[in-house]
Amino acid sequence: MAMTSKRDLVRAAAKARRRAVAPYSKFKVGAALLTRSGEIITGANVESASYGLTCCAERVALFNALTAGKRGFVAVAVVARVPGGPMPCGACRQLLAEYAAKAAVWVADSRALQTIKEFSVRELLPAAFVEVPEDSD
Ligand code: THU
Repeated sequence: MAMTSKRDLVRAAAKARRRAVAPYSKFKVGAALLTRSGEIITGANVESASYGLTCCAERVALFNALTAGKRGFVAVAVVARVPGGPMPCGACRQLLAEYAAKAAVWVADSRALQTIKEFSVRELLPAAFVEVPEDSD
């Protein structure tokens, strides 16, 4: 399988962004996950009239990938029209810490896809809660 570059994954996130369903905020976000075996799984944000039910692009991509049986994520790209690129929210950081702990996080502004900022999941969410302890009663 051909090697996927940082730029390729960011492009995949930008393409996924076009499928965002964001009638309330109008803030469209796309995300693309890359697996160790070179597969790309994407997602975009989906909003609800009951605003709190909205799901971010990162989680849609992650749920999409996980429920397709994909594991071993090496990177996630996130694209939105915001200077410097969109920073994942706290909820998405939590899910990334649980299911994509080793992934590089690449973010870019949809108007400047060649400028990519990189973070680790660990720096976005240090000291994450990742496991329910046994005998926690
Ligand atoms: N959103 C994402 O999809 N990802 C982020 O990293 C930040 C926020 C979405 C949620 C909502 O649909 C819209 O952006 C505005 O918050």
